Amino acid sequence: MSKPIVILGAGGLAREVQYIFDALRETGEDIRLLGFIVDAEYGQPGTIVNDLPILGDLSWLAANAEKVQAICGVGESHLRYQFVKRAEETGVAFTNAIHPNCTFSRYVTFGKGVVLAAGCNLTSQIALADHVHLNLATTIGHDVVMEPFSTTAPGAHISGNVTMQTGAYLGTGAAVIPKKTVGAWSIVGAGAVVTKDLPANVTAVGAPAKVIKTRAAGWHALR
Ligand SMILES: CC(C)(COP(=O)(O)OP(=O)(O)OC[C@H]1O[C@@H](n2cnc3c(N)ncnc32)[C@H](O)[C@@H]1OP(=O)(O)O)[C@@H](O)C(=O)NCCC(=O)NCCS
Repeated sequence: MSKPIVILGAGGLAREVQYIFDALRETGEDIRLLGFIVDAEYGQPGTIVNDLPILGDLSWLAANAEKVQAICGVGESHLRYQFVKRAEETGVAFTNAIHPNCTFSRYVTFGKGVVLAAGCNLTSQIALADHVHLNLATTIGHDVVMEPFSTTAPGAHISGNVTMQTGAYLGTGAAVIPKKTVGAWSIVGAGAVVTKDLPANVTAVGAPAKVIKTRAAGWHALR
């Protein structure tokens, strides 16, 4: 029997991850969800969220790290990175949450802590690194690399031979044309179309996507 699961975070994406596990359980998988882990300022132990309790903060996880497995339910790449890095210090193992109606070939590889929301379709030779999140109805074509902590919002489309570098974020309905790279910790706005490589640490919007903001390298780790 696999270890029970705790979800890091208790916000919108965390409740969506809960739904993925509920859907998996309905297919007969042996899934036990214990509850949510949040920093104390976001909720007190015992508070009920969607029928599940907030268990406590990372000190709860540290005390129970051997008995559970975790998954991060934080949507934004840089906030997920920060939470996961702190959670890793407890030694907890991470599991994946893949909604049963997603489709993907046997040539898709998965790291740990990966989330695929309902309706994702992935084809061939796609590498999903640790803590990649693909939100609802994301499509990904052949030969795509999703580096750690890269993220898509609902309805994003990634064409063939694209690289999403570490922490890169694609907003709702955004698209990337083939062979382009979205730089590390860059954010692509909702509805944008990436037609040229984007450097690291920028925000780009529009079709074709244009850079409107550049952050200092390392911004993603600042709390
Ligand atoms: C691109 C984005 C990150 C910019 O956020 P921001 O850095 O706070 O920037 P602002 O809201 O100050 O907007 C800056 C400018 O870009 C424009 N802009 C913002 N988002 C835009 C978008 N998606 N497309 C086109 N223009 C956009 C704003 O209108 C503003 O223009 P102005 O300077 O002429 O007034 C954000 O608007 C966005 O699209 N996020 C995606 C969110 C998403 O998909 N979430 C999914 C959750 S599941």
